[in-house]
Amino acid sequence: MTEIGKPLSRIEGKLKISGMAQYAAEFNQPNMAYAFAVQATIAKGTITKIDTTAALKSAGVITVLTHQNMARLKKFEPMDLFKSGGSLSEFLLPLQDNKIEYYGQIIGMVVAETYEQARSAARLVQIRYSRQTPVTDLKKAAATAVLPKMTGEGGPAQLNEGKAAAPLASSPHRIEATYTTSIENHHPMETHATIAVWEGSDRLTVYHGTQGILFTQKTLSFIFDLKPENVRVLSPYLGGGFGCKLGWPELLFAVMSARAVQRPVKFVTTRQMMQTTVGRRASTIQKVALGTDTGGRLTVIRHQVTTFNNLTQVFEASASPSKVLYKAPAIEATNAITKLNIGAPTQMRGPGFSSGSFAIESAMDEMAYKLGMDPIQFRILNYTATDQVEKLPFSAKYLLDCYRIGAEAFGWNRRKLQPRQNRQGNYFVGYGMASAIYPAHRSVATAKVRLTQDGKLKVMSATQDIGTGTYTIIAQTAADTLRIPVESINVEIGDSNLPPCPPAAGSQTVASVMPAVMAAAEQVRNELMQLAINDSKSALHGKSVEAIGFGGGTFFLKDDPGVADSFTTILRRANRDAIEACVGTKPIGDMGLGPKSPPCMITNFSADANDDDKKYSFYSFGAQFAEVWIDEDFGTIKVKRFTSVQDVGRIMNEKTARSQVMGSVIYHIGQALMEETLFDNRFGNPVTRSLADYHVPVQLDIPDIDVHFINKPDLHVSPIGARGVGEIGGVGVASAIANAAFNAVGKRVRSLPMTLDKLL
Ligand code: MOS
Repeated sequence: MTEIGKPLSRIEGKLKISGMAQYAAEFNQPNMAYAFAVQATIAKGTITKIDTTAALKSAGVITVLTHQNMARLKKFEPMDLFKSGGSLSEFLLPLQDNKIEYYGQIIGMVVAETYEQARSAARLVQIRYSRQTPVTDLKKAAATAVLPKMTGEGGPAQLNEGKAAAPLASSPHRIEATYTTSIENHHPMETHATIAVWEGSDRLTVYHGTQGILFTQKTLSFIFDLKPENVRVLSPYLGGGFGCKLGWPELLFAVMSARAVQRPVKFVTTRQMMQTTVGRRASTIQKVALGTDTGGRLTVIRHQVTTFNNLTQVFEASASPSKVLYKAPAIEATNAITKLNIGAPTQMRGPGFSSGSFAIESAMDEMAYKLGMDPIQFRILNYTATDQVEKLPFSAKYLLDCYRIGAEAFGWNRRKLQPRQNRQGNYFVGYGMASAIYPAHRSVATAKVRLTQDGKLKVMSATQDIGTGTYTIIAQTAADTLRIPVESINVEIGDSNLPPCPPAAGSQTVASVMPAVMAAAEQVRNELMQLAINDSKSALHGKSVEAIGFGGGTFFLKDDPGVADSFTTILRRANRDAIEACVGTKPIGDMGLGPKSPPCMITNFSADANDDDKKYSFYSFGAQFAEVWIDEDFGTIKVKRFTSVQDVGRIMNEKTARSQVMGSVIYHIGQALMEETLFDNRFGNPVTRSLADYHVPVQLDIPDIDVHFINKPDLHVSPIGARGVGEIGGVGVASAIANAAFNAVGKRVRSLPMTLDKLL
């Protein structure tokens, strides 16, 4: 009966495939002008001269904005912006001075009547620089890295510095190895886009492809001194956001350009700009040391990461998975950070955990070989039911089931123990596996539900569907709560005027928003039932709440279902057009990104708040299995099969959840085998400039992906019991593939991506 869990296709799917769904760049405005960026061609230094004469004379050009004529913005501390509820992923305000911090930095904005005119004129801007030597090589800069007291995904950056040395020295079995991961860039199908429309000087509307409409609203209201309610942000659909659409230059540039020319302005980044200006996953150098006793029980885990940042507090917290994955009396996990002259790193799907799992899960495989143990047995032996850092039990953990179900589905028992034993023609075949882990987040969220006399239900919430299925799951949640068909539900999201919600980041949307939808729908249901009970004309008049059941748009007596009253009739008799409720949920484990104090439109808070956040540690788990084929002569590697088993709490929609896991696996096959942004370290420019040379997986690179869910609700997270599923599916993928590659050819690749030169 229940709607929750059903493999429904996306309710907005037809709109999307027929081109009817409007994305940010498609909200063309009357009298709109187009902006195009001029980008720095040095990686460090200053602009000594910038000549816009030729560009200004070019056809259709309205203005050329540079640091010489751009309006000055007030200076502020990043922390003050965060406190206001806003966020910028890169702390570099548009055209405020002549400093160059990285290659590709936007140093000018041409605004013209058409896109082509703006783009053409941008090439006519003449720039002279004073160059300084940039540093873009992490290996070279590693010596200057420090261990800052910062917090990232997975908690504080540093844990037990120096504490692993003694236990390592006394461990009977030890391994130590260094793993590296490369810079990866974001390439959602939809590039970054904003259309900014000012009404006078105090009202602003932006159509902006974003993972956080309220972040955006608060950011703009903070920077431009506007009342939040005078800033409207619309993002009904997003063509993908994997951590990159949370506050980048296109937003402020569009808004400032629109203010400068007193017209609506559209600014869309090119595919090439995705390589330079909107964030990236930072590269890492990761040293892992493991020690075990004679029986193979871990005595110590040490995971020392070196990575970089610039113009941001975000860092790739790759040591995080090692804090919580396995039982060990001594765990040292550190993240050292240096600065490079590269645009700001940012969150990218499974931040920290995805890159970090490559190191720890490869090391676990290396140790299993050293001990002569099966890699799954070795992991089971070192299983932990508690988070050893927080000293709390996990809210729910079915990792052992993940191993068992995955091994069975994958056919792990056919794995050869030693490399080079399994051949298919010219290929060596290998099997590898890894564990997956990712934090489960939940933030404050609100939803409004309105049932009208025609029996239709509208759900309104300022959350956003970044392509994951949020529209559909909201409809399922509401349909389930009122036991009415999904078809009678209308979902309105992606508009900052709606009840507040956190950004779609950290895989928290389902866990945050759905409890609010459920609570609001429950409230509507209860009020409606009271209307019937209090109505002398109702068949249910005077009955007790406990005696009344519901379904198919009616209330009825549980003992005598023939005695019934329909939702629409109750409303009609009460002379009510609609009944509505707006509810906020005050959750456990607020990740601190959401609106801290929802505005007064919230009528109440649901009762599901409790102190479980003090009693449990919240993570999702999984197991990944890969079969790879490696050509003996060429070293080419192909992932032939992939099995992923996920323990992410209750599954809200079997189809969209499966798509999330498949997408994550594909994303990380890219990380494992091909994605790499390379720099010419002499000049600090990326040499991978577009999708022509920044390689991502295509259809032929992707095997059958077999996805399984444990699907057991985690009721400590919320009454719905769902944790997030957007990111964990990629954690462990690269290591499962690297471990399979070792099993195939006996070569341990400790550096991503595993290009053929590393496998020969
Ligand atoms: Mo996610 S990497 O927080 O969009």
